[in-house]
Amino acid sequence: MVRARGPGRVNLIGEHTDYNDGLCLPFAIARGVTVGAERIDGDEVIAQAKDLGEEDRFPLAEPPKAEGWRAFVRGTVAELRAAGHAVPAARLEIEGDLPRGAGLSSSAALESALCLALLALAEEEPDRLELVRLGARVENEWVGAQTGLLDHLAVHFGRDGSALRIDIAALELEEVPLDLGAWTLAVLDSNSPHDNAASGYNQRREECAQAAAQLGVESLRQATLEDVPRLPDPLDRRVRHVIEENDRVDRTVIALAHEDLREVGALLDASHASLRDLYEVSTPELEETVKAMKDAGAAGARVMGGGFGGSVLALFPPGADPPVGSLGVVPGPAARLL
Ligand code: GLA
Repeated sequence: MVRARGPGRVNLIGEHTDYNDGLCLPFAIARGVTVGAERIDGDEVIAQAKDLGEEDRFPLAEPPKAEGWRAFVRGTVAELRAAGHAVPAARLEIEGDLPRGAGLSSSAALESALCLALLALAEEEPDRLELVRLGARVENEWVGAQTGLLDHLAVHFGRDGSALRIDIAALELEEVPLDLGAWTLAVLDSNSPHDNAASGYNQRREECAQAAAQLGVESLRQATLEDVPRLPDPLDRRVRHVIEENDRVDRTVIALAHEDLREVGALLDASHASLRDLYEVSTPELEETVKAMKDAGAAGARVMGGGFGGSVLALFPPGADPPVGSLGVVPGPAARLL
């Protein structure tokens, strides 16, 4: 049996910028999903989700659409085959230690591990940029979430010890060492489940496309703060968030280079205020979770990922203890064969 591991991801800053050709600063984490795969006779895929005690069985050629975790498995198999990869009939075992639906991208973790395991069975070398695009197609066409490339780039290109400054327009990835000394980063689940296909995520993406069309630009990367007053509410607020969030990514990179972690905390707080008031992706549960992080002494805390539920990310100075139930996060390696 071949085995592959796909990591979850944390995005330090740069939220709802990826599908606007913007900037983000994610890293892969140690928690993730492991997929075991072995060839079997016949023309089916049999997949076992061990943590859920569930099984799926579907034809290798043209799998029908499905819901939940099955959509990711069927979509990945179908998209790999449509791209010409010789994925054989297989039995798959899936297990992980990454909370599902908590905004840590359990979906990209699963897809990346599936891709590497299935390509190993096919005895093919992975082209990671191809797998990034394939992962996004699975989300867009099989799951119904119009997500961008952030999660897939983070899980396929993450580096131990570093975040990645990603410029989506140029598809440029720059390693940004994340040396926090005695400071810590932690995530805490708001316990309001996060689901990009069912939340207002697709609506936000649509609003950004509308704003770009009204401004006559190809993407909001070309929009400037002078453009904002030309747009009706709420498009003006959405665009202001995107422009200022791109700027916060670069200010965070500079603050990290200067080891100015207080400033990184202030940028996380500013990002949260913008995601709450301008982009409107927060919820009462997320606000409570941010407050719990700040009450525990966080220098900055913000909703992370798509929002409308999921987790809060916070930065703690030396000596401050994250609230009970938090998970400490540090940059770990990208998806890999074990
Ligand atoms: C989700 C999506 C990403 C990105 C973030 C918001 O995680 O999967 O593509 O849009 O939300 O930054």
